[in-house]
Amino acid sequence: MRNFELEKFFAEWEFKAKYHMTASDLESWTVKEILELDGSAESDLDNMWLGYTEVRGGPEVRQAIAETYDTLSADDILCFCGANEGIYATMRGLLQKGDHAIVVVPNYQSHETVPLEICQVTGVVLHEENDWRIDMDEVRAAIRPNTKLMVMNFPNNPTGAVMPKEDLDTLIAILREHGIYLFSDEVFRLMELDEADRMPQIADIYEKGISLNVMSKAYGLPGLRVGWIASKDAEALQLIEDYKHYLSMCNSAPSEFITTVALQNREPILHRNRELTRTNLAQLDTFLADYPELFSWVRPKGSCIGFVRYSGEEGVESFCKTLLVDHGILFLPASLYQSELLHFNAQHFRIGFGRGQVFKDGMVALRQAIESR
Ligand SMILES: Cc1ncc(COP(=O)(O)O)c(C=O)c1O
Repeated sequence: MRNFELEKFFAEWEFKAKYHMTASDLESWTVKEILELDGSAESDLDNMWLGYTEVRGGPEVRQAIAETYDTLSADDILCFCGANEGIYATMRGLLQKGDHAIVVVPNYQSHETVPLEICQVTGVVLHEENDWRIDMDEVRAAIRPNTKLMVMNFPNNPTGAVMPKEDLDTLIAILREHGIYLFSDEVFRLMELDEADRMPQIADIYEKGISLNVMSKAYGLPGLRVGWIASKDAEALQLIEDYKHYLSMCNSAPSEFITTVALQNREPILHRNRELTRTNLAQLDTFLADYPELFSWVRPKGSCIGFVRYSGEEGVESFCKTLLVDHGILFLPASLYQSELLHFNAQHFRIGFGRGQVFKDGMVALRQAIESR
């Protein structure tokens, strides 16, 4: 199987680099902080029975998840170990040899590598010059008689772009006409800088829509490893569940419990996280404006990451390597977003602005590194 280069890079550097400046998750919380949001949670956790949990996720956690959608019930939810397992199981469960998939580029790598192991895949690109929007004519042109699934991710990793409402309406109309599943990776939803940019969740508005979400990003709780897919298409859910028996089989019971507490008390968690993102982004705006000859970007509208274009002479790969090796500053260079599907000529790096003290310290180190060039 193709390597998941982006995650391999993180496996090597994430815990080694002094300043993790490319994280796509928000500053995390302690177990104690989450349990304090609910008066009886601590003793409930202490007395928890550590048996297996239900394959789809326990009724309480699925109910709490369902309540984050407008029209779904607990029966429409299938939990996974993180979002990553949800991506893998969905592609394996729904796609077969002989099918065709369409994938948005650039992407979180498994969106294209897992389908590529199974069937033919066509990429449709996000156009930087057009606010990282997809061209709907390119989607129409990519569709084949055997197209079964399209994969997209908004707010987008790595650009932080969101899809405007008129594009979403057009896209769903196109896919509906051809009976194509839309797998929508929504892990950065609720992290929009302006609530007006928030997209609806696909599972709420499209009968063949499959929404992916997780506790890792907007809630800042990646260590729980609780993700899920949501869909009104019961047949699709069953096919995907069938795959899960070969993977994690079920979630960890304490994680399900803490997830339930966090979702039932999510407002203070989201509030703190949004404030942090806004403060950090303001600092980043100032920094980028100080070096216009080196940096430019289409400012992200959602998530806590952005794709910054680097115009220095040595090129982005060398820039990122020097920062990492000489200064301990970790960015994701464009090479980790290369696609097999189409040529994507990026001179960008991904920066993350969702963390607390490490982001502040990293910005100081970054400025020093730039000044000392
Ligand atoms: C777009 C996207 N989808 C899915 C994932 C996987 O999330 P998790 O690590 O919680 O499984 C990530 C992680 O960075 C991501 O950026």
